[in-house]
Amino acid sequence: MAIAGVKRAIQLLVLFLSPLILSAYFSNHPSVNVPTSWQNVYNSDGWQFNDNTHVRPILALDLNGQPSFGFGFLRNGTTNTFYLVTLKIAIIPNSSFSNYGPPPVVLWSANPNRPVEDNATLELTVNGTLVLTDADGTPVWSANTSGAFVTGMNLSLGGNLKLVNGSGSVVWQSYSFPTNTWLPEQRLRIGRNLTASVSMSNLSSGMFYLSITRHGINAYIKSVPPQRYKTLRFNANNATYLGFGIGSLTLSGNYVTYNQIEKGDFQFMRMEPDGHLNVYQLIDGYEETLYSDLLKDEHYGDCAYPTVCGNYGVCFEGQCSCAGGGSSIYFRQLNATAASFGCREVTPLSCPDAQLHTFLEVMNVTCFNFAPQLSNIDAESCRRECLKNCSCKAAMFRYQDNTSIGTCYLPTQIFSLMAIRKEVFNYNALAFIKVQRSTHKKSKSSLVSVLVPSILAPLLCFAFFISVCYHYVMQKGRKNIEGKQRENSGDESSIHLFNEMKKFSFEDLSNATQEFGVKLGGGGFGDVFEGMLGDGTRVAVKRLGSHVGQGRKEFLAEVKTIGSIHHFNLVRLVGYCAERSNRLLVYEFMCNGSLDKWIFNQDQEQTLNWATRKKIIHGIAEGLKYLHVHCNPNIIHFDIKPQNILLDEKFNVKISDFGLAKLISRDQSHVTTVAKGTPGYMAPEFIRDRKFSAKIDVYSFGILILEIICGRKNRDSSQVDYLIDMVKVKAEEGQLSDLVDDRNEDMQCHKEEAVKLLRIGISCLQTDHHKRPSVSQVIHVLEGSMDVEPITDYSFLSMFPMDSPLEANRAISAPLIASVLSGPR
Ligand SMILES: *[C@@H]1O[C@H](CO)[C@@H](O)[C@H](O)[C@H]1NC(C)=O
Ligand SMILES: *[C@@H]1O[C@H](CO)[C@@H](O)[C@H](O)[C@H]1NC(C)=O
Ligand SMILES: *[C@@H]1O[C@H](CO)[C@@H](O)[C@H](O)[C@H]1NC(C)=O
Ligand SMILES: *[C@@H]1O[C@H](CO)[C@@H](O)[C@H](O)[C@H]1NC(C)=O
Ligand SMILES: *[C@@H]1O[C@H](CO)[C@@H](O)[C@H](O)[C@H]1NC(C)=O
Ligand SMILES: *[C@@H]1O[C@H](CO)[C@@H](O)[C@H](O)[C@H]1NC(C)=O
Ligand SMILES: *[C@@H]1O[C@H](CO)[C@@H](O)[C@H](O)[C@H]1NC(C)=O
Ligand SMILES: *[C@@H]1O[C@H](CO)[C@@H](O)[C@H](O)[C@H]1NC(C)=O
Ligand SMILES: *[C@@H]1O[C@H](CO)[C@@H](O)[C@H](O)[C@H]1NC(C)=O
Ligand SMILES: *[C@@H]1O[C@H](CO)[C@@H](O)[C@H](O)[C@H]1NC(C)=O
Ligand SMILES: *[C@@H]1O[C@H](CO)[C@@H](O)[C@H](O)[C@H]1NC(C)=O
Ligand SMILES: *[C@@H]1O[C@H](CO)[C@@H](O)[C@H](O)[C@H]1NC(C)=O
Repeated sequence: MAIAGVKRAIQLLVLFLSPLILSAYFSNHPSVNVPTSWQNVYNSDGWQFNDNTHVRPILALDLNGQPSFGFGFLRNGTTNTFYLVTLKIAIIPNSSFSNYGPPPVVLWSANPNRPVEDNATLELTVNGTLVLTDADGTPVWSANTSGAFVTGMNLSLGGNLKLVNGSGSVVWQSYSFPTNTWLPEQRLRIGRNLTASVSMSNLSSGMFYLSITRHGINAYIKSVPPQRYKTLRFNANNATYLGFGIGSLTLSGNYVTYNQIEKGDFQFMRMEPDGHLNVYQLIDGYEETLYSDLLKDEHYGDCAYPTVCGNYGVCFEGQCSCAGGGSSIYFRQLNATAASFGCREVTPLSCPDAQLHTFLEVMNVTCFNFAPQLSNIDAESCRRECLKNCSCKAAMFRYQDNTSIGTCYLPTQIFSLMAIRKEVFNYNALAFIKVQRSTHKKSKSSLVSVLVPSILAPLLCFAFFISVCYHYVMQKGRKNIEGKQRENSGDESSIHLFNEMKKFSFEDLSNATQEFGVKLGGGGFGDVFEGMLGDGTRVAVKRLGSHVGQGRKEFLAEVKTIGSIHHFNLVRLVGYCAERSNRLLVYEFMCNGSLDKWIFNQDQEQTLNWATRKKIIHGIAEGLKYLHVHCNPNIIHFDIKPQNILLDEKFNVKISDFGLAKLISRDQSHVTTVAKGTPGYMAPEFIRDRKFSAKIDVYSFGILILEIICGRKNRDSSQVDYLIDMVKVKAEEGQLSDLVDDRNEDMQCHKEEAVKLLRIGISCLQTDHHKRPSVSQVIHVLEGSMDVEPITDYSFLSMFPMDSPLEANRAISAPLIASVLSGPR
């Protein structure tokens, strides 16, 4: 048996050594049996790539015209350091083949932190363990097969290295032990981490890692304690794995989707040395194209990455400068010509000399991971807290208008800082950075005059001035109660990894709905019927009207897109039918129907309580945010109204009908269909100018908030006034609480909070759509991490007169409608 193994190894070596067999590059060697061993020795026919990477292959997988994979010892550069890796090899057009190719993609490494040298050995032993030993005999790594009876090793499609037993079961696989790369179909167990490498050529664990938890994916930078810089939130419920499906990141039922990939293209996600989580695609098998930067902060952009400007560097709109500006006596740029390398302390902090600690105050600067540790505190106390503890490196303070009350965070390590603008972020920030006074009594206080000229550092035009001026008034600091509730609300979403959409025949659906017998509702795009599939699943079947005149190809493309969008607050498309002229969509069934039945219900018993209404508003916001921000291309719903807000048995929101009106790409130029929207919910700029942006949905959402809190329709035939007009009157009188739904006692008990929500709704209705908050900002306000800009002039609050064509004619001849005349063009 052992002899057979050695023979096999020799055969393999001969194959790879033979200079005549150029096709060895792609020759198919996906499997070996136990026992076999390989030595990491030079062979002239190893794989050489044009970035100076050299690979001594062990296994190779060739798929005709498809991406190919390899497993072997890899060296990048000329040093005697080798990593045992799996890799994706580029497809090289045969004409230019000369044993040099585009750089491979390293998919996994057995020994990222302990590279081996020439003459190291890999051994697949007779008892089925896979052991890597360095040239000097030190054991470096082994696959834990915990005594299973391994018979062979196999490199399979996707670059998964597997150890299999006699009956073909996988005993161990590289996919279960990710390093920094996440591949389509690679399921990661909850609790696993993806760790970025030091650099592209040094695979040792770097500064950043990603931790997959039950409540989301958290990104950290190493420090004591680790500092979290981003969370992709979701609810994994009882799921044990997360997957990165073809073209999408599967967050246990919540998918983040990207453009569908072309057949033959290869996608992967990598935790980068700089803390980004990037999705790449290999176009034509080799051209590595960045697809998406998943952790990028939607407000702060790259400035929210912890090392973007190095330590003590301040990032503003992508530019770096040292804290305190170029004239600071406390910090110097590490590299005089490139600010992004960060800054060093002129005199390093020293705990024994704590009496010389003082603070550099920087206005409008905060840190990427501001995590309130103390709230309802004033700036001075925040600063003093930091002075008490030597491990505290700065006091970060956030406040509304007045430094006498705010929140405080005391980081133990300073990475990059971010400059903020109050107009954008709705809070003020003040950073007290702990610095060491030098013993030569040059500077006596933390006050640094901006006039001190600098000979060393170049002046940057956006230098941040140091100030000791404080302003006054206001308060802030609610706790994130709603955020917590939301985390627990996602209990029923089932886990569909690699969910496939079903194709139904018209007959299937006709049977399922008893010949379209039970109508659930109707809408602009067609009627909806209740149905039950053969396996007992209840569904809602939407039969698109003939006016949704789409060719089969376009319809299928749209179905594919909609079907790939998965979020807890969006109703799930489970299948479709496109037979002859019939176009049907099959959705999951929501037993509590649509929101209108609940908020406009005449039966007092059936009105919703405060907590439920709040949860619903939150759910709508989350669903919309997903469409606006995370879908690519972004989706504007365009028809947000109570009839399109469905509720499951726990009153979780499931937005329906998204993706039907318009799919727009990021440049918003690619408009496929023109829809009309629903009177009473349509934003004025669209009615008037056909101006099209995500703020259309924000406007409709604002109306919806008013309707939910007040419990009545905006346009109600039984009432003279539009709700929005009444809101205007009451807002001006300061009596908004009069409008809170009086049919429900619980609502009356929460009047004050309800009015806060009304104010959020009102801010969404501003005529100038630039002034309306984005849905993400609304979420921040709901979560208490941001306040609404107080509105004093409510003149915009009136139903736009051209809301229906009839009234439009009247409006044009009416000279005194200020909102029309002064509205945005
Ligand atoms: C590769 O070789 C095949 C057969 O020799 C040939 O038909 C094809 O055009 C070649 N491809 C390129 C890119 O040269
Ligand atoms: C590897 O082993 C060969 C033969 O055993 C020896 O000649 C060579 O010097 C070794 N290489 C290193 C780097 O130790
Ligand atoms: C497997 O075999 C190797 C040597 O071939 C030995 O060192 C190791 O202890 C064995 N492991 C088990 C679990 O038997
Ligand atoms: C190997 O796996 C078994 C079971 O999965 C576990 O109990 C054991 O601790 C592991 N051994 C090592 C060295 O990780
Ligand atoms: C090894 O992987 C290849 C490619 O995925 C597959 O075709 C083959 O059946 C596998 N062999 C074994 C023994 O699992
Ligand atoms: C292979 O592993 C599977 C699952 O662990 C087990 O059911 C099967 O009996 C094993 N087969 C052999 C031949 O060990
Ligand atoms: C992953 O990171 C978390 C959070 O820092 C840590 O507690 C955990 O031990 C890590 N897990 C693994 C498997 O390394
Ligand atoms: C090799 O190192 C270079 C320089 O750091 C890097 O750009 C390249 O991506 C590395 N190649 C691989 C295959 O990792
Ligand atoms: C990789 O980086 C680590 C940590 O910075 C360093 O200790 C190690 O020497 C580097 N390894 C190589 C091969 O450069
Ligand atoms: C400073 O940065 C520039 C530009 O990136 C680079 O060319 C130069 O080598 C760096 N100097 C030092 C001393 O690192
Ligand atoms: C800080 O922000 C406030 C409000 O946006 C602004 O008035 C002030 O000038 C800024 N201060 C500095 C030093 O940039
Ligand atoms: C999760 O597991 C618990 C306990 O096993 C069970 O009660 C609950 O119903 C499960 N939840 C889901 C959504 O499957």
